[in-house]
Amino acid sequence: MDTVNKQWQQQVVSWEYSSAATPDLNDVPIQPFPASLHEQGETRVIALDLSRELETPYLATAPNLLASYIRICANEKIATSIAATSEVYFVLRGAGRTKTAEGTINWKQGDAFTLPYNEGVTHYADEDSALYWSHDAPLLQYMGVTPSKPMFKPAFYSKEYMCDAVEKLREPALREKRNRIGIILGNHDSAKTKTMTHTMWSLFNLLPKGEVQKPHRHQSVALDLAVFSGPDTYTLIGQKVDENGDIIDPVKAMWATNTVFVTPPGWWHSHHNESDQDAFVFPVQDAGLHTYMRTLDIQFIR
Ligand SMILES: [Fe+2]
Repeated sequence: MDTVNKQWQQQVVSWEYSSAATPDLNDVPIQPFPASLHEQGETRVIALDLSRELETPYLATAPNLLASYIRICANEKIATSIAATSEVYFVLRGAGRTKTAEGTINWKQGDAFTLPYNEGVTHYADEDSALYWSHDAPLLQYMGVTPSKPMFKPAFYSKEYMCDAVEKLREPALREKRNRIGIILGNHDSAKTKTMTHTMWSLFNLLPKGEVQKPHRHQSVALDLAVFSGPDTYTLIGQKVDENGDIIDPVKAMWATNTVFVTPPGWWHSHHNESDQDAFVFPVQDAGLHTYMRTLDIQFIR
């Protein structure tokens, strides 16, 4: 046999099907990231990094996504550049603007915006500011590829647009006991999948005071930003539900304003607000990709 054949054969390994069909990968952990990470110190990007848990050689919060806090002190700026197809921003605090090749977008607390693949942008803060920044760079790093072109036009979702839209849903959603009271944020360029970008997805969801939103589950991961929360507001997360639709042995992830927690893919989760203040959550998911692949498999307890 010639040398090349011998060399390539050294690369071969195989496994017995029944014992190897579900390889033992580390679970995505249920991980909180407190607001203290972005409330102090110098202007910088703070990666919400779980690469050690996920055993990836690159920063990642979940297999396909990396979330970060960007802290920008008053009257300072910071440049960001990432090889991603989609970037999702939510303004946690402050006001400022982001200079992009497509123009300069002004933002303030509660606004959100998306960027397609770009050569880099610069964020300027007029006052002490923080951004929640998520993108799909880990997916591209896993595949060993770099983006070649923008796949959608950037979009800006003002706080007023999102709050007004959700407020209109409050009464009918409560009356009909819907699973969530929210709007899925979209872009005309990803209207087919009804997602924020072709790979990423987000919901602006109201959890009214005293309300429970029953469990659901999906194959996408959720990097959940608690936009606003009073006390005693939380998500229960678990792998199974009982015959009454209650989550068995749940983990309790507390909500706190401007904090993030991870809901692993495939796990059931219900939202609970035992306080006297309305709460809002902004989950960021790889659900654009899952919807396209027909693998989202969202299921509800009604
Ligand atoms: Fe969910």
